[in-house]
Amino acid sequence: MRNYDLALIGFGGVSRALAEIISNDAARLTAQLGFTLRVVAITDLAFGSLVQPGGIDLEHVLALPRGSDFGGLPGGSAEPNNREVIQGCTADIVVEATFTNPSDGEPAASHVRWALESGKHVTTTNKGPVALHAASLGALAATRGLAFEFEGSVLSGTPILRFAQQMLPALTVTSVEGILNGTSNYVLGRREAGVSLEAAIAEAQQLGYAEADPTADIEGSDVRLKVAILAQQVLGVDVPTTEIVTEGISGITDADIVEAAAQGLRWKLVGSATRTAEGGVEARVRPVALSAEHPLAGITGPTNAVTFTTDLLGQVTVAGPGAGRVETAYALISDLVAIDRAASQRVAPEDELVGLFGATL
Ligand code: HSE
Repeated sequence: MRNYDLALIGFGGVSRALAEIISNDAARLTAQLGFTLRVVAITDLAFGSLVQPGGIDLEHVLALPRGSDFGGLPGGSAEPNNREVIQGCTADIVVEATFTNPSDGEPAASHVRWALESGKHVTTTNKGPVALHAASLGALAATRGLAFEFEGSVLSGTPILRFAQQMLPALTVTSVEGILNGTSNYVLGRREAGVSLEAAIAEAQQLGYAEADPTADIEGSDVRLKVAILAQQVLGVDVPTTEIVTEGISGITDADIVEAAAQGLRWKLVGSATRTAEGGVEARVRPVALSAEHPLAGITGPTNAVTFTTDLLGQVTVAGPGAGRVETAYALISDLVAIDRAASQRVAPEDELVGLFGATL
């Protein structure tokens, strides 16, 4: 049975949800996936670091009270020691789930680089390193024969990036537009129900949809990063985030909402990237009052959706959860599956030779 040892960098909601799934659901996961998972290192700004090559007791660390740290545990320290742990631990795969820094993607980008440089695959839900450094990190991974997976950077566990890469290969995608932020979509729905902006944001925070600083959700900068990732991954064009004209939803008034409803329209925060006649991409983030016929108009609550406009199929829309700790942890699991499949394919020729000659060469 194949096993993958994991290092969890960041032990917030998403990593904890992953640890809970691994801890509570190990037998089912193993039966369904054909491999086992073991966590051998955890680092976190609040908890410090814990390195136990034989496997960490997840039930125990998940039960540690808020405000405590790993300092008293064997292999533990009150300091995160990210670089030392990432480079020195025995993990096969580094799971990067620290906070998103939209300016330079740090320190997450360095976490990814250190992991790849020390021979470890990476899965991340962090939009920063992907939106800002995917080309260089992807090239580093490729030269080392390692995986750099980031399905959860857009639409949490809803498999939008892999869908585009694996399901649309013979199509030309001319544009990709979507509702890419669960918090703002939830807030717009609550605003339609008469709830104030502030109260709706507080609800979204309570439900775990919002970023630590919800400004990124409300003013569109979270969507801007996701549009950059979609442009790069689906349209194959790098669009600097600074060139994506961005407007959020805080300027939408009660009167705007009432007026739109009277005309059968619904306000949505739409992120889009569209090929131009000149071969470039026009990317933007803005609130749009959509008519009921639009494929994104019926997407409500924290649900997200992406509509691909293609040459042969017309419009294809994929909808699903766009935020949430368990939903985002699922994206990490889907990345682990992708890493396992790639690794299994790499060993296949040798298996074939063993089969042919009856002995390991
Ligand atoms: N805060 C984000 C959202 C989480 O609300 O969609 C996923 O990026």
